[in-house]
Amino acid sequence: MEIFEEKDYASVSRKAANIISAQIIQNPKSLLGLATGSSPIGTYKQLVEWYKKGDLDFSQVKSVNLDEYLGLSADDPNSYHYFMRQQLFDCVNIDINNTHVPDGLKAVSNPVEVCTAYDNLIQNLGGIDLQLLGLGHNCHIGFNEPADSFPAGTHIVDLTQNTIDANSRLFNCIEDVPTRAITMGIKNIMSAKRILLVVSGSDKAEALQKALYGPITPTAPASILQLHEHVTIVADTAALSLC
Ligand code: GLP
Repeated sequence: MEIFEEKDYASVSRKAANIISAQIIQNPKSLLGLATGSSPIGTYKQLVEWYKKGDLDFSQVKSVNLDEYLGLSADDPNSYHYFMRQQLFDCVNIDINNTHVPDGLKAVSNPVEVCTAYDNLIQNLGGIDLQLLGLGHNCHIGFNEPADSFPAGTHIVDLTQNTIDANSRLFNCIEDVPTRAITMGIKNIMSAKRILLVVSGSDKAEALQKALYGPITPTAPASILQLHEHVTIVADTAALSLC
């Protein structure tokens, strides 16, 4: 496990963007596993900046996103589809047909079919070259919430109150936050060739400590990352303060 300690969110974002751009330069046809939430916003901003300067080319890049809220359509401003278009897809020369986010709407009526299709999609695209992750306060990755076992493939999950509360800041009111989501499973994430976890802020310090040094347990899903052979953590001093 490789850990980069950065002074603040801006340098975390720059470092993470450097790692992603190195991946794209090395393999222009990379399959990137992408994440949402506040953590990667600065990383996407930096990537867009470098693209606009002419230093990055996304024309052959493909992507699969970690998760999506259940019941939200792609054009709902709170959906992760929408987030990805705003933060990255509409700002660079990626072919939108090469970008994939789980279908949170279809998954309401056809959960098994949609989940199986997403697993197959990742496999058919050749597997994820680099998976970007944020960290939930309860140690979730994607929407893999603390549980009794590690879920393997893409699945539907009931969000914990902790996650609903944390994510409510992005909605008009807490009642608008979906209570279920579709997410890649732990096997999907762990099968990525490389994992990049970005963490910022003292409110994530306890979760990061558990993820990096706590017992490997499904009650702290991110702890499984200790078993991955190529995981890079980019975190600021505040997030690493308990490590
Ligand atoms: C959400 C997402 C996760 C993300 C987490 C942390 O629940 N599904 O992928 O890592 O929130 O979000 P933030 O970066 O906003 O703290």
